[in-house]
Amino acid sequence: MDEGAVKELYCWFSDYIRAFKAGDPEKDENILLKEEHTARVRQEIRDMGESLGLDGEEIRLAEAMALLHDLGRFPQYATYGTFSDRRSCDHAALSVEVLIDSGVLDALDPEERELILKAISYHNRASLPEDESERCLFFSRLLRDADKLDIWAILLDYYRRREVVGYRNLALELDLPDEAGISEEVLRDLSAGKIVKLSDVKRLNDFKLLQASWIFDLNYWPALLAVRERGYLDRAREVLPRTEEVDRIIDLLRARLDERIRSELPSDEG
Ligand SMILES: [Fe+2]
Repeated sequence: MDEGAVKELYCWFSDYIRAFKAGDPEKDENILLKEEHTARVRQEIRDMGESLGLDGEEIRLAEAMALLHDLGRFPQYATYGTFSDRRSCDHAALSVEVLIDSGVLDALDPEERELILKAISYHNRASLPEDESERCLFFSRLLRDADKLDIWAILLDYYRRREVVGYRNLALELDLPDEAGISEEVLRDLSAGKIVKLSDVKRLNDFKLLQASWIFDLNYWPALLAVRERGYLDRAREVLPRTEEVDRIIDLLRARLDERIRSELPSDEG
């Protein structure tokens, strides 16, 4: 994919989201949030791609995936007023549908088109299918890492503002109740070093811990390193209940993160 093709996609994307804006910053809050998220995921994926030594062609392909991965968020929010896939629709499948209907990828090389559609359709899955090519799995993992890095930042920032100034945005909380306690299943999975299942999330604390468990679902060292350098786990700790159980879980996640960075970081990056 050349520079021109990426620019064309970018122009198409700008036109596409314009239709979802009312022109009032308050009403457009969640549309702007996803627009800005998209821009940051593009940056994250470019940075990760460079750290991993991808060539220009591969970086542009990854960037196209980042640009288009959340297209479905806009009609999802316009139709259902929520970002909860459980309560509305699979937003990744909707992104793919929008892309196919629009024909915007039709001029691309068929292999690239296929990779873009697949990486997007897999970006929000609990896990990746095993019967895909290494190339497809590589880009899918890259997109998932870049996406998580930014969602983490958005939510940690939000939880902090929520505690300090009482700012609320129910769409970011997936309409979950903010009640005391943590689900047994969530604690069990975290203690076993597993990703928390969305189906076990009953309240906001569970959801915050599900995000912390993304440590187990990060693929590449630049993402692991970014989580440590940005202090995401310390920031998560600050917005969780002050209990010994939570301390234990966060310590465990931190140890796991350090261990993976130690084993996966190329020696000349340390
Ligand atoms: Fe998404």
